[in-house]
Amino acid sequence: MKIFIDTANVDEITKYADLGIIDGVTTNPALMATEQRTAIDIIHEIVKIVDGPISVEVVSTEAGRMVAEARHLDSLHENIVVKLPAIPAGFEALNVVVREGIKVNFTMIYTANQALLAAKLGATYVSPFVGRLDVTSTGGAELIEEIVTIFDNYGFETQVLAASMRNSIYVKYAALAGAHAATIPPAVLEAMIDSEMSRMSLDGFLEVWETLPEESKASLFDGVEE
Ligand code: G3P
Repeated sequence: MKIFIDTANVDEITKYADLGIIDGVTTNPALMATEQRTAIDIIHEIVKIVDGPISVEVVSTEAGRMVAEARHLDSLHENIVVKLPAIPAGFEALNVVVREGIKVNFTMIYTANQALLAAKLGATYVSPFVGRLDVTSTGGAELIEEIVTIFDNYGFETQVLAASMRNSIYVKYAALAGAHAATIPPAVLEAMIDSEMSRMSLDGFLEVWETLPEESKASLFDGVEE
């Protein structure tokens, strides 16, 4: 399963890239704006930090303009994946840009049928918004299962990119359902790494270890240097 980081913050991206756990990055206009920096500078920095798919979204809502923005984003770097929104104009733009070889992350997917159509049109990724769907009590985890099943049924190459992962449980559900990738905000990545139980268990082991006489402890790691 590919893990993408869902942020436009270059410090967070650097931190998790150094940890070796991220395969790519997804941004959106709101995440970009949160940084209060020049958007193009952020993109130039991200492509240097992570050598993997970097999703950047168009901001127009009109098909012709979306196509123009998609072409421009695609020209910025070979790793850029253009995010198009799942609105009627987005489908129109998708149909045009995939024929030009532009990689598309079709985003804001809320139904399996939207994903089916995006796959038929040749999107590289579809991004179902699990957390936002759960807010309306309609089952974000089930949506991932449905899309994975549909893609398997017909051998679509489009990858399911579980998005809006507002909780680490969603990541587990997406992995169990066979999502090809999940895009995860830094705070949720942190929650996946850190378990209070792991830290408490370690504290317990080391507490007992400390009861061993100094000379017996020293013998185990004699001569070890960092
Ligand atoms: O990048 C898009 C997506 O993951 C949105 O997440 O938390 O704003 O619903 P969220």
